[in-house]
Amino acid sequence: MQRRLRLSVLASGRGSNLQAIIDACEAGQIDAVIALVISNVAEAYALERGRRHGIESAFIDPSLYRTSGEFDATLLDLLRKHEVELVCLAGYMRLLSPPFVEAYSNRIMNIHPALLPAFPGLHTHRQALQHGVKLSGCTVHFVDEGVDTGPIIIQAVVPVLDDDTEEALSARILAYEHQIYPRAIQLFAEGRLEIRGRRVLCHGTDTSQARDKQAWGAMNP
Ligand code: GRF
Repeated sequence: MQRRLRLSVLASGRGSNLQAIIDACEAGQIDAVIALVISNVAEAYALERGRRHGIESAFIDPSLYRTSGEFDATLLDLLRKHEVELVCLAGYMRLLSPPFVEAYSNRIMNIHPALLPAFPGLHTHRQALQHGVKLSGCTVHFVDEGVDTGPIIIQAVVPVLDDDTEEALSARILAYEHQIYPRAIQLFAEGRLEIRGRRVLCHGTDTSQARDKQAWGAMNP
């Protein structure tokens, strides 16, 4: 039997995307094993979620390191010891240092709660509401050295309603995050993703069908 892809999920907070990934792995929708959950926040609920599912879950204390490079060297060491092949950022609130990105080049994914390149960085939903967009959504992308700038793997589109608050919009988008992140990981696990410049091609997709798909809320691929 082929060895299953080994993942690590890095999270700083409540970990609902981590939970979606755990659930998809357990349901056989992702052909991978979560080798390790890591957080830079001791009380992150993500660590608790990992432990509840029997996954090794580690806190790395940023106060013990002088620079982000030193912190990331420890992180890298831990990931290598666990033979991690794909790193999934899920609400991970630290910037990765260039040597780390280089070490896991094209093998780091992130989820962002907007249709990138719109509204990168923090306070995404506030930015979307202030700008007055009619559609927002979420994006899974590979991570490069910029902030939310790497090649896009999947996006889902979500309407913005007139009476939306940040909380309401965030909740509507989050439901789609939980669908597209496991999907992107599975496409990676199946070896179907090819990065060509800024574009990520998904092999084995029936593009004639994709073209006919209704755009509203559709996942592509
Ligand atoms: C999500 O909205 C994700 O898109 C963003 O941070 C949030 C993390 O939420 N990067 P959770 O911890 O996965 O619930």
